[in-house]
Amino acid sequence: MADGEGYRNPTEVQMSQLVLPCHTNQRGELSVGQLLKWIDTTACLSAERHAGCPCVTASMDDIYFEHTISVGQVVNIKAKVNRAFNSSMEVGIQVASEDLCSEKQWNVCKALATFVAHREITKVKLKQITPRTEEEKMEHSVAAERRRMRLVYADTIKDLLANCAIQDDLESRDCSHMVPAEKTRVESVELVLPPHANHQGNTFGGQIMAWMENVATIAASRLCRAHPTLKAIEMFHFRGPSQVGDRLVLKAIVNNAFKHSMEVGVCVEAYRQQAETHRRHINSAFMTFVVLDADDQPQLLPWIRPQPGDGERRYREASARKKIRLDRKYIVSCKQTEVPLSVPWDPSNQVRLYTLEDDKFLSFHMEMVVHVDAAQAFLLLSDLRRRPEWDKHYRSVELVQQVDEDDAIYHVTSPALGGHTKPQDFVILASRRKPCDNGDPYVIALRSVTLPTHRETPEYRRGETLCSGFCFWREGDQLTKVSYYNQATPGVLNYVTTNVAGLSSEFYTTFKACEQFLLDNRNDLAPSLQTL
Ligand code: COA
Ligand code: ADP
Repeated sequence: MADGEGYRNPTEVQMSQLVLPCHTNQRGELSVGQLLKWIDTTACLSAERHAGCPCVTASMDDIYFEHTISVGQVVNIKAKVNRAFNSSMEVGIQVASEDLCSEKQWNVCKALATFVAHREITKVKLKQITPRTEEEKMEHSVAAERRRMRLVYADTIKDLLANCAIQDDLESRDCSHMVPAEKTRVESVELVLPPHANHQGNTFGGQIMAWMENVATIAASRLCRAHPTLKAIEMFHFRGPSQVGDRLVLKAIVNNAFKHSMEVGVCVEAYRQQAETHRRHINSAFMTFVVLDADDQPQLLPWIRPQPGDGERRYREASARKKIRLDRKYIVSCKQTEVPLSVPWDPSNQVRLYTLEDDKFLSFHMEMVVHVDAAQAFLLLSDLRRRPEWDKHYRSVELVQQVDEDDAIYHVTSPALGGHTKPQDFVILASRRKPCDNGDPYVIALRSVTLPTHRETPEYRRGETLCSGFCFWREGDQLTKVSYYNQATPGVLNYVTTNVAGLSSEFYTTFKACEQFLLDNRNDLAPSLQTL
């Protein structure tokens, strides 16, 4: 365990590569495809070190490239398993570059990959990881939340795309100055040979990502007639395996070109020679390219004219994905400032969303003004048994213990989330407090607790809520400002902000349902109301 300089994670694997001309792209920089192959190999070796058996790449989360790497520099890659689940593991990867002459080092990117362990006959049950350092403990704890969000990622993006109102100017643009998207279309076939595969004969995930990057770069170059630079890749999900002898058909096209960046979409299908008509869809990804001038400034790009039908749909979806990415980047970059921030979500909405970064947590809260009395709203929402009436995440609520007049413990069940067959359950302490002074809010605070009588059962996955709740301010007669608070750890920031800043209808719809519930029940005069 000790490496002479202190503790070293037993699953850690390091790779160092000197960048040679054969690894570079048309700009003379390390090609991202080559880097993805090295990242995938290092991460796979770390996963296999923990699993003790062969592993395959299930997914690679979004990657943002901060720096390019030149010939003669060294790439240092470190991978370690953050957490093991049943048969899958989250592997954290850090990539840095090093200039051997000046001894300077740069962070190039961070990546998170999920690997699944495979054994021939039995289903694998991985041994758990025991985190040792503070950083490992932190990664270990947030890895579970990241996994949950990864498994619902496709649904979240679908939801965002369906509800993201993007004004496009397809009709009003001057068509004569646009490049037809068709001009950028690429189709290329690859035969999977033994050097492309792992010891099981499955194609390496890194190899597939490299082939995808290759066709995406060709499509991007056809739009700008220059050498583009890849800035970001959205999550890769390996939907199914491919083996030696398979033919992989890679298709790419520019979906949309913005002022300084463009989105290229790539899809990969596999087939066997004998069964060409049966193609398996094994991967799709979206990559963002820019074109840099001699001073590394992004250049203006030509507009694109999509094909009617699928082309126009992808054009609109690319705009929506860009908005999601920018909103997310805004929050993530603000996180790095010292000053806590408060970002209005969308001022045109009646519901507002704010985020606040405070020490280790990202809190967000939503706010709305409702035509209902503050005490009535407080009473209606403090009885968790009524929450299933407006919140579809609460399937059933049972009062376990009325601790005192204002504190109660509930057992809550939630429906199974995408990717999971089991529903979730929570044991939640709900505490309510009336205002002490004029101007103070009514408060309801919710957090998970453990109860010996309500331990985790095989029927449910036990969930945990860190801290959430409501505040109610009396704004006038029958007028109340209602705020909903929730706290998340920074490791889930990217995922939370996809949902939050990406204008997910999920939060909005639930909060609007809450408003309707309050309005529908505003005249339910609860007996204890007079005493508040
Ligand atoms: N991201 C992360 N993990 C995922 C995932 C995703 N999109 N989809 C599934 N998984 C995880 C599940 O959570 C589960 O983990 P657990 O056992 O720890 O609970 C594990 O994968 C198996 O899930 P299961 O539902 O039993 O299998 P599946 O039918 O979804 O298959 C793969 C998952 C990854 C095995 C399958 O899609 C596959 O073979 N993909 C191709 C892998 C490949 O060839 N990679 C590139 C070359 S190495
Ligand atoms: P979607 O069409 O919803 O974007 P797909 O998985 O079908 O999802 O495709 C992913 C991306 O791959 C598309 O956005 C597009 O950019 C590219 N693509 C798909 N089909 C083709 C094709 N026939 N030719 C060129 N590029 C394609």
